[in-house]
Amino acid sequence: MQKISTENLKVGMKIARSIYDADGQLLLSKGMLLTDIYIKRLEALQIPSVYIERNMPHFTIHYPNTSMSDDDINSEKIRVSAIKNLSAAFDKCQLTGSLDTEVIVDTTQVIVNSILNNPCYIVQATDIRKYDDYTFAHSVNVCALSTMLGILCQYTRPQLDELALGALLHDIGKIKISLDILNKPSQLDNNEFEIMKSHSELGFELLRKTTQLSVVPMHVAFEHHEKYDGSGYPRGLVANSIHEYARIVAIADVFDALTSDRPYKEACLPHIAYEIMMEEGEKHFDENLLKIFFDNVAVYPVGTAVQLTTGEYAIVTDIQKGFTLRPILQLIANSKKKLIKATALLDLYKNNNTSINRVLTEDELTDLLSPDLH
Ligand SMILES: [Fe+2]
Repeated sequence: MQKISTENLKVGMKIARSIYDADGQLLLSKGMLLTDIYIKRLEALQIPSVYIERNMPHFTIHYPNTSMSDDDINSEKIRVSAIKNLSAAFDKCQLTGSLDTEVIVDTTQVIVNSILNNPCYIVQATDIRKYDDYTFAHSVNVCALSTMLGILCQYTRPQLDELALGALLHDIGKIKISLDILNKPSQLDNNEFEIMKSHSELGFELLRKTTQLSVVPMHVAFEHHEKYDGSGYPRGLVANSIHEYARIVAIADVFDALTSDRPYKEACLPHIAYEIMMEEGEKHFDENLLKIFFDNVAVYPVGTAVQLTTGEYAIVTDIQKGFTLRPILQLIANSKKKLIKATALLDLYKNNNTSINRVLTEDELTDLLSPDLH
């Protein structure tokens, strides 16, 4: 399975993950073959990329856990309906100035329940979204990622509910920022960036007037751009003076932003987001939380083609919760690029001598598998 930009889709490719629109309508289901009409429809809907199944004529890759379970289908449905609810609530808030807290609280409860009920939950950056839905899809993802991190930090249910509310509403101040700035297809200039930065305070003010909610979500909105070393905004808070929920949301926010397609940049693959965020490390984030986060987010999602420190080539076939940097692999070629046709599995968790050296590009994998070479 592999993510392909819509512009590179070809007739006959097989869809690996069902695609829904923002209203929860199924656009294309898993297993369907792309036709010209489908590709044009995806382009018209401005869906930037989709997952397709890679054709590997030489061998079968055994993915033990990739068929979509009922849990996966439910969580996909929950995600799209949460995006829809949030979009409607933010639109209404923009018109009336007040937030429909009942819808927001219900939405967060459903997200928290779905993650609590799915103990094997490993976040894979697999979602596909339209540019238009970015703020809402981003908020829902940040809510799910933050809830996961809260569960790993052994939060109680009331704490999880508060964290999830803060995460879902962290960017609510953006409803007061002009769309020209929000959707600008290039980098913001200094003046525009200052306006964009004001969304933290605008969100805080808006939530302060929403008396039905506790004070926690307003602090998350206010502090989610603070950095651990004090170089963030709006107040330059340092380390633990930043609310712990805001420290969690900051990690989820940056990871989701890096791994998302935007009009002005392509999504980073998760391992690149991992490298960028680890490099920022203690300057930006609470390092303890960052470690827990990356132990549980698929840094090398299932289907990723990699080269190992031994020089061999492999495909990630399964991931263990808590050990996402050391997945289970199926070897596909030796260090001299000779294909390994018999099924040979390698569990990196059990094999400390070998690590992933790098991720192959799409072209490198195509070359490796090219029938002309073998
Ligand atoms: Fe933000």
